[in-house]
Amino acid sequence: MKALVLAGGKGTRLRPLTHTSAKQLVPVANKPVLYYGLEALRDAGITSVGIITGDTGQEVREAVGDGSRFGLEVEYIPQEAPLGLAHCVLIAREFLGDEPFVMYLGDNFLVGGIRDLVESYQAAGHDAQILLTRVAEPQFYGVAELGPSGEIVGLEEKPEHPRSDLAIVGVYIFSPAIHEAVRAISPSARGELEITDAIGWLIERGHHVHSHLVSGYWKDTGRLQDMLECNRIVLEQVEPEVHGTVDGLSEITGRVVVERGAVVENSVLRGPIVVGANAKIVSSYIGPFTSIGPDCVVADAEIEYSIVLDGSSVVGVSRIGHSLIGRNVEVSGTTGAPNTHQLMVGDHSKIKVQA
Ligand code: G1P
Repeated sequence: MKALVLAGGKGTRLRPLTHTSAKQLVPVANKPVLYYGLEALRDAGITSVGIITGDTGQEVREAVGDGSRFGLEVEYIPQEAPLGLAHCVLIAREFLGDEPFVMYLGDNFLVGGIRDLVESYQAAGHDAQILLTRVAEPQFYGVAELGPSGEIVGLEEKPEHPRSDLAIVGVYIFSPAIHEAVRAISPSARGELEITDAIGWLIERGHHVHSHLVSGYWKDTGRLQDMLECNRIVLEQVEPEVHGTVDGLSEITGRVVVERGAVVENSVLRGPIVVGANAKIVSSYIGPFTSIGPDCVVADAEIEYSIVLDGSSVVGVSRIGHSLIGRNVEVSGTTGAPNTHQLMVGDHSKIKVQA
């Protein structure tokens, strides 16, 4: 079985980070979201992976390479524009050949892996297998309606009035029957070839599409709150390890990882937290569910429930929470009059300051 991993798209809901970076490479506990998916595929016994890339293709190639680091053989399939998930299957026709495949959306995060799902698909041999999970806001997803015996009776992409709270998770398994479906459908109102429509096409023609309710944790990391949530879930399971230096004036409690070369001085760290390689934490408080990237500096500051990417500094600020801070960002405190917030932020940034 092969896998098709989708790492294109624009990531508009994570701007401004996605102006300069692929949404699939935003880190969760200091590791890009995409890597968790690649590892899940490998752990399910898959080795041959095609990655669909868009405008950020170069960055994705640099991050993943030939896949050998993950125990995978990776090929890249560029998509000229974000024309939909079914369009990705269309352009991957040659790579996919005539075997079943897992389609994995590179910004999806599924705890517990997909090994059992792949095995149950292989045992049953359905035409397609989709995963569903209950969500609070189904209007943002593909939504399935199930009949009395659990069969799929309807599928809709981002419906205004969802008929259920069962969202389609971005991990699918398809038999080659999907190729005819993606050729047969037309673009949706948003101008994309929707995989949801292709699956609907299969069902209408009597193909057997099996749905499986996901009991474990799943998130589409497209939005800030989802990124922070994923970060929380992963950090809750990290094994505490100190490879860097922590001085005697510092207090560390809970699950805290301090990576190689990182220095913690005169600070309070209440886990779960990861502090990236060569980061420096001085006279600060780092609160639960925070990932500090490599080469960051946090000094005379307080931060919690946040993700800070590589090379950024947070100095003289109290207290940052619920935040996603990009690469090489400087956040610093000011003192004295006038009492102003001084901002120089990129396009589509979102700032919330204490009123
Ligand atoms: C896509 C699918 C949608 C699915 C979602 C899961 O939406 O079209 O059916 O529920 O992924 O992440 P997108 O994130 O491309 O808007």
